[in-house]
Parts: sequence; structure tokens; C-alpha cells
Amino acid sequence: MYLGTVILLVSLATSAFAATTCNVLDYGGVADNSTDIAPAITSAYNDCVAGATTSDATDTVLLVPSGTYALVTAVTLTNVADFSIEINGDLNLIFNASLSGTLFSFDDCNNMLTSALQVVWQGTGTIYGHGDLWRPDENLMACTIPSAWPNRPRLVRFQTCNNIDMSGVTLNNSPMFHVTIIGDNNVAHDMQIIADHIGETDGFDMSGNNNYVHDVSVENGDECVTVKAPTNGFVGENIQCFYSAGCNIGSFGNDATGISVQNVYYKNVTQQNGDGGIVLKSYPTASGLVTNATYVDFTFTNIAYPLQVDSFWCPNEACPATTGNITWTDITFENISGTGDNSTRPTIMIDCIAGYECTGMTFENVDLGKEGGATVEIEVTNACGTGLSQLSAC
Ligand SMILES: *[C@@H]1O[C@H](CO)[C@@H](O)[C@H](O)[C@H]1NC(C)=O
Ligand SMILES: *[C@@H]1O[C@H](CO)[C@@H](O)[C@H](O)[C@H]1NC(C)=O
Ligand SMILES: *[C@@H]1O[C@H](CO)[C@@H](O)[C@H](O)[C@H]1NC(C)=O
Ligand SMILES: *[C@@H]1O[C@H](CO)[C@@H](O)[C@H](O)[C@H]1NC(C)=O
Ligand SMILES: *[C@@H]1O[C@H](CO)[C@@H](O)[C@H](O)[C@H]1NC(C)=O
Ligand SMILES: *[C@@H]1O[C@H](CO)[C@@H](O)[C@H](O)[C@H]1NC(C)=O
Ligand SMILES: *[C@@H]1O[C@H](CO)[C@@H](O)[C@H](O)[C@H]1NC(C)=O
Repeated sequence: MYLGTVILLVSLATSAFAATTCNVLDYGGVADNSTDIAPAITSAYNDCVAGATTSDATDTVLLVPSGTYALVTAVTLTNVADFSIEINGDLNLIFNASLSGTLFSFDDCNNMLTSALQVVWQGTGTIYGHGDLWRPDENLMACTIPSAWPNRPRLVRFQTCNNIDMSGVTLNNSPMFHVTIIGDNNVAHDMQIIADHIGETDGFDMSGNNNYVHDVSVENGDECVTVKAPTNGFVGENIQCFYSAGCNIGSFGNDATGISVQNVYYKNVTQQNGDGGIVLKSYPTASGLVTNATYVDFTFTNIAYPLQVDSFWCPNEACPATTGNITWTDITFENISGTGDNSTRPTIMIDCIAGYECTGMTFENVDLGKEGGATVEIEVTNACGTGLSQLSAC
């Protein structure tokens, strides 16, 4: 109740005191659940926001007021900065099997030298992706042209964007990934993603430097809040994941080179009924270094693979011959408890490449059991560290 009041006051304050409010209803938007809202958003940006920005992103607000709208085409804003987009309405994506790319994409929000917020994304609305229509009978290939994979629409992407503050707007059942953020010093917080329990529905995919995701909840069937390469500095805090594939690093695909991920910190994460908990994953043909990642205060309930560092992660196919050297070092798991769901799967598995041993694997107060009290399996290959009897000292 208290939190809700604070959020409401903040969003009212933003629109009430903005120096300029650019309302999509003045730029061709119609809240009739059938007129495409995308051209109105683009016009409101070009004809109103673009000429009105100040060095304070909260001075200029592109507003989608409450009401129900259709979303038929994509909104792509390039070279933007210093404005807020506030979506208080509900948007329904209209099914179109040929639609691809990203529905809200912000590219190169980099033209300011200030360290002020460049784009603020907020609001009380919901974007309904109706992703099930792109996956009849849960068939992920139904609307996928294999030569153009992945071609189902994604919801939101910030690419080469710094100092973004993203919150509020609920994202519901995207046909594909929900949020991708690539850039530095970005924050996503206080928001919810709810999707079908199926693959290719990633919650937050993060890369760049010093990004921060906190106080979010994700229900889906793939990545919850996951770090991609390159990353130097990431914090994830107060995260709830339901049915997801975990808070992971990777995966790094076939023949990827130059992978660099460092200084990752997660704290206070609960995960229920998921496939993966914390999975650091790569093909054995990928090369690079992941170092200094710390996971603190995780609680798992019924997770198929709770903790995994896996250099042989090859979904849906046998791994090719090992030609890579992906190395994981200084990875710490502390205060982690809960249950795995499957008596034949290890609760902890570390499988690294011979000759590129994973070093500094630290387990402290990690207590993972199995549903029904089955024997706990731990498998360790080519790794050293402390805190597990299966790990030799480095
Ligand atoms: C808006 O249209 C979508 C289909 O595009 C439908 O699912 C939804 O119920 C409609 N919402 C309202 C409020 O009529
Ligand atoms: C479906 O999307 C394609 C690709 O963006 C577009 O060319 C086509 O006009 C859209 N069809 C409808 C009915 O909107
Ligand atoms: C942990 O995260 C939950 C939300 O998932 C939050 O309610 C709780 O206050 C957090 N605990 C601490 C100690 O910050
Ligand atoms: C490891 O990462 C943490 C969190 O990002 C950071 O505070 C710490 O300084 C890093 N340690 C080293 C040795 O770089
Ligand atoms: C890992 O592989 C990359 C790409 O083949 C190579 O440039 C690098 O020198 C290798 N590093 C080590 C430590 O073997
Ligand atoms: C882990 O839990 C112990 C016992 O509650 C606590 O003393 C310690 O500070 C925790 N570690 C971290 C990094 O929070
Ligand atoms: C348990 O794990 C094994 C090996 O991954 C898998 O074949 C089996 O289907 C799983 N059982 C359940 C009930 O999920």
C-alpha cells in the first residue's frame, strides 16, 4: 500500500510538473484498441519531444495516457536523449506472423555529454504481447523463418544507451525476449514481467558496464535476469523468478571469441519452479574469461538445475569438439538454500575445460537439498576452490 502510494505520487509528479508533456492523443493516437499507436508515438517524439528537451530527462514527457491501444508496428527511436516516456495505457500487440525486430527500440542514446538520465521509461500501463498467438500449440517455430531467426517480435531494447532509468510498465507475454539493455550505467527496477512458461521469453538480458537491476519479478520460461558479454560491473538485487531458466551468465555460443565478463554481484533472489537457478553456460568452442561473480542470498524452490558452471552447454545438440578456452574464475556462492526438483540431476555441477581449470570457486553456507529428501549429487570436473568436499584446493 505504502509503496503503491509512493509510485503513484512520483508518476503524477512527473506529468504534472514536466515542462513539456507530449501527449500521443494530440499526435494521432486513439485509445480505441484498434488504431496503431506506434505512428502517434513516433510523431509525438519528432514533432514535440525532439524540440523541447532540456538537460533534465524528466522535463520532457512523451505520454501515452490511460486507455486501451493497439500496437501494430514498431517504434524505433534513434539518437535520442533527455526525455521520459510514460506509458499509463494498456497496449495490445496485434498478431502478424511477419512482424520481427523489436517493438520499442531505442538506439544510440549517446549524444549528450552530461551524466544526467538520458531516457526515463515509466508508467502504470501494461504492454500485452499476446505471444501465445506466435506459438500455437507451444510451437516456437510456427512463426519463425529459420533463415531469419530470431524473427518473432521482442518487446523493449535499449542499444548503445547509457543512464537509462526503466521502471513501472508491466510487460506481458512477449512473442520473444522482453527487455534487452546494452550500454552503461543503466537501471531497471520496480517492474514486472509475466509470460508463458516457455523458451525464448527472456526477462532481462543485460550487457555493458555498471548496469543495475533491482526489485523486479519475472515469470516466464527462459532467462530471468541474465548477464551477457561484454560486461564489467553488474548488480542484481531483490529479484523474484518464477518458472524461469535462472539468473545466469551466458550462454556463450559456438565459436564465440573474446568473451569478457567481470565484477558481477547478485543478492537476495528467490526462484521457484524453474529449470535453472544460477547457470554459467558456454559452448566448449567459445573463448574468453569470466571472473569475479558473486551470488548471495538465493532461495530456490523446486529448481531443476540449481547451481551450474558448465563449459559444455549445448542446448538441443551434442557438443562439438572442444576448441575453446572459456574460463571461469573467482566465482562465489554464499548463503544459498533450497531444493532441486529431480533426483537424477546434480544440485551443483561444475564442468570446466581440461587445461583451462576453473579456479577460485568458493562455496560458503550453500545448502541445497532435493524434493523428497533424495541423495544430493554434486559433480565437479576441472575446477578448484573451497567449500565443497568435491573441490580440491587451487
Ligand atoms: C483489445 O484487443 C485485444 C486483441 O487485440 C483483446 O485481447 C483485448 O481484450 C481488447 N481489450 C479491450 C479492453 O477491449
Ligand atoms: C505484417 O508485418 C509485415 C512486416 O512488418 C508488414 O509488411 C505487413 O504490412 C504487416 N501486415 C499487417 C496486416 O499489418
Ligand atoms: C529481498 O527482496 C524482496 C523482493 O524480492 C524484498 O521484498 C525484500 O525486502 C528484500 N530483502 C532485503 C533484506 O532487502
Ligand atoms: C569484484 O566485484 C565486486 C562487485 O562488482 C567489486 O565490488 C569488487 O571490487 C570486485 N573485486 C575485484 C578484485 O575486482
Ligand atoms: C583463448 O582462445 C583465444 C581465441 O582462440 C586466443 O586468442 C587466446 O589466446 C586463448 N587464450 C588462452 C589463455 O588460451
Ligand atoms: C551470510 O549469512 C551469514 C549468516 O546469516 C551472515 O553472517 C553473512 O553476513 C551472510 N553473507 C553475506 C555476504 O551477506
Ligand atoms: C530428471 O532429469 C533427467 C535427466 O536430465 C530427465 O531425463 C528427466 O526427464 C527428469 N525428470 C523429471 C521428472 O523432470
